[in-house]
Amino acid sequence: MMFRNPWQRHKDLVSISDLTAEEVEALFQLAENVKARPDRYRNALAGKTLAMIFEKASTRTRVSFEVGMYQLGGWATFLSSRDIQIGRGETIHDTAKVLSRYVDGIMARTYAHDTVVELARHASVPVINGLSDFEHPCQALADYFTVREKFGHTRGLTLAYVGDGNNVCHSLLLCGPKVGMNVHVATPPGYEPQAAVVERAKAEAAASGTQIALTHQPQEAVAGAHAVYTDVWASMGQEAEAEQRKKAFAGFQVTPELMALADRQAVFMHCLPCHRGEEVHEAVADGRWSVIFDEAENRLHVQKAILLLLLNR
Ligand code: CP
Ligand code: NVA
Repeated sequence: MMFRNPWQRHKDLVSISDLTAEEVEALFQLAENVKARPDRYRNALAGKTLAMIFEKASTRTRVSFEVGMYQLGGWATFLSSRDIQIGRGETIHDTAKVLSRYVDGIMARTYAHDTVVELARHASVPVINGLSDFEHPCQALADYFTVREKFGHTRGLTLAYVGDGNNVCHSLLLCGPKVGMNVHVATPPGYEPQAAVVERAKAEAAASGTQIALTHQPQEAVAGAHAVYTDVWASMGQEAEAEQRKKAFAGFQVTPELMALADRQAVFMHCLPCHRGEEVHEAVADGRWSVIFDEAENRLHVQKAILLLLLNR
């Protein structure tokens, strides 16, 4: 590919914090091109291969990465952690070294964030975080790309996140200031995003002239927002807490009444999979505000751009 790679200084995509505002904008411009003219990139990763390690379930991440590699002329192989030797105790260190001898990149969905960090440390090829217990960077990038597409820009807009201060919330918080957006987060007490993430997001927001605000009132977070976002109340690995969480999150469902407090043009967002009747009312998930399937589609285009920037060296 004949272009100066704007991600030249990066080997991996482990956290949104790795990226500057300019690198996010460069990614979005490439993703826009990839989406508009996929034929131009048909052979861009010819002969390149991606190993995809999954410690937990996936529909979107698995399919969008696999299809993305195919559409770029490359190939991806799905590795369930139950089937590869990691499941029998082979170390992350050795797995990273071995896979680096075979493939051109590794995408990993893990329970512990440290697992992705360790893979990246020991692999000589790029490692992409496909969701850990701490972050979901590919998701947040696709989401802000979707906002940009819907509103024509992102600067000055507000995203309100209502629900659990989880991995998705962390990446949205860390990415918001990079695209010039305010991020308001409403969680029940005890389910706030991690303090270190909030601190980092606030520091970036101060530098970029945006705002990060935390509250326990969904109505307060959503007032005037341009995007209202929620995610499941119990993430993968938290199944045992599901009943307790349902009680704690009562009053945090995104309903048409809540959406009515947002901006008139507001969109409803969810990384999916969603639980209608829990974190979102079906009239919202399937209503006029909803861009949930655009977000899912944009995972494909944005990740193709990520693969181009990281694997095409
Ligand atoms: N949003 C998302 O990552 O979906 P999957 O769990 O289906 O990959
Ligand atoms: N927070 C959710 C996101 C799934 C895409 C989880 O970790 O299960």
